[in-house]
Amino acid sequence: MTDRNASTDSPEKRAAGIAAAKLVSPGMVVGLGTGSTVAYTIKELGRRVREEGLEILGVVTSYQSEALAIEAGIQLTTLAQHPEPDLAIDGADQIDAGLYAIKGGGAAHTREKIVSVSAKRFLVVADESKIGKQLDRTVPVEVLPFAKELAVKKLWELGGKPELRLASRKDGPVITDNGNFVLDVGFGVIGDPEALALKLSSIPGVVEHGIFSNVDEVYIGKKDGSVEVITKQA
Ligand code: 5RP
Repeated sequence: MTDRNASTDSPEKRAAGIAAAKLVSPGMVVGLGTGSTVAYTIKELGRRVREEGLEILGVVTSYQSEALAIEAGIQLTTLAQHPEPDLAIDGADQIDAGLYAIKGGGAAHTREKIVSVSAKRFLVVADESKIGKQLDRTVPVEVLPFAKELAVKKLWELGGKPELRLASRKDGPVITDNGNFVLDVGFGVIGDPEALALKLSSIPGVVEHGIFSNVDEVYIGKKDGSVEVITKQA
């Protein structure tokens, strides 16, 4: 997996990431997302493990979060052992007013979706720049390499503009932790994320797309270090 999320220190991301770590209590099984915002959560959980003796188990969503969690000293488990984590915490690339999210900037959205849908509660951590009225960012779509051409054709037919994600200008395609390609697909403003999600899932060879409809709560970190919490309306 190549990391489009690598970034320098961000007070907003740190505020959101650390605030989310406070929700974790002893004995919890926690889904650990991928990216620069949730990295603050993972590091803070590691601090609590070391300094407070917090006993938790983490379920990772990528090799990147696995490495970070191991470095932080968080004991890991799997969905095979703990199929229903108490809480999943992850970042997002964009979140709309209805708490639909686009994820996959770090090409980890397939495992992130599996872990977050498995969890009892899904919390997103983000900085203010991620929040908008409607989704309009490109949607990452993980495809089997064998199905790339068909997927590209079907995505054009759906009105999308697919582009194969490259590791860099001179390198080949980004390869996900699952051994697949990622197509970043522009759809303009996405009026009905639920309907688009269904259409994307119906394309043969699509492993998973980056539209998430299961966010329960968003922690938004602000420049002044404060955190706004938005909860999904029932
Ligand atoms: C990885 C993701 C990330 O959570 C998303 O890209 C946000 O990353 P960051 O916190 O670095 O802005 O979906 O696949």
